[in-house]
Amino acid sequence: MTTIRLWDLPTRLFHWLLVLAVTGSVITIKTGMPDWHGRFGLLVVGLLSFRVFWGFAGSTYARFSSFVRGPGAVMAYLRGQWQGVGHNPLGAFSVLLLLGLFGFQATTGLFATDEIAFKGPLYPLLSSSWADALSSWHRMTEWYLYGLVTLHVLAVMFYTKVKKDNLMKPMITGKKEVAPGLAEDARGGGVVAFLVCLVLAVIVVLGASGSLLSPPPAPEPAPQSLGW
Ligand code: HEM
Ligand code: HEM
Repeated sequence: MTTIRLWDLPTRLFHWLLVLAVTGSVITIKTGMPDWHGRFGLLVVGLLSFRVFWGFAGSTYARFSSFVRGPGAVMAYLRGQWQGVGHNPLGAFSVLLLLGLFGFQATTGLFATDEIAFKGPLYPLLSSSWADALSSWHRMTEWYLYGLVTLHVLAVMFYTKVKKDNLMKPMITGKKEVAPGLAEDARGGGVVAFLVCLVLAVIVVLGASGSLLSPPPAPEPAPQSLGW
């Protein structure tokens, strides 16, 4: 067996910070800390945007082009006719589902309201009927998130225990042992690519936080009493 570099540091940091941010969002909304819910939610927005940019500029196995494949590849994988490293075709499908569902959750949150005092930062941009619809989707998606994350963790455990393929270790150390000649070290995704993706993600977060919106108009001054 030889050891290759599989997951670059930004991909690993993205993953574990996403776990932290999602856990933080759920705990804070359930314990009555909506401001912190919004902050953790914006961290999710930043991390997911970073991951999308990194999917084009990151190192070999982090790139979408290396793991997004059609249904044919998934069928071939299920028939046992796939050899490779990184996300397998079925795993890639679940990665896209996780990114999509969490992206949907974070985006709907930006426009949501609890109809009391807590509003997402982009709430003023939509009509109240749209905001109501997005708020109810935001609440409904919660159960799909729990289901998908449970499946994700069960799948990782299944690979480790049953298929004797430890997926966890590479997501922590970045390294994986493979048969000689099966795959090469990940390449690309250097510091410049990282900084560009980081700056783009910060711009997305600034937009999502509402800081780029013009402030609401100042209230009309009270009519002057003429003293009569
Ligand atoms: C992936 C990240 C997120 C997760 C997992 C998440 C999860 C949740 C959950 C589970 C609730 C329902 C709480 C309950 O009724 O018990 C909720 C409500 C809410 N969230 Fe998020 N949220 C996320 C991102 C965001 C973001 C980015 C914002 C805006 C900055 C946001 C704003 C809101 C608002 C305004 C509510 C109240 C909606 C209502 O009660 O109808 N959320 N969130
Ligand atoms: C909120 C919870 C979680 C979310 C949203 C999540 C999301 C993701 C995503 C999006 C990826 C793809 C990584 C990429 O290419 O960028 C991934 C991979 C992975 N996750 Fe998670 N994850 C969560 C929890 C966990 C936990 C608790 C574990 C540990 C048991 C775990 C272990 C892994 C592993 C080992 C991989 C690599 C899978 C492979 O080799 O194909 N995840 N996760």
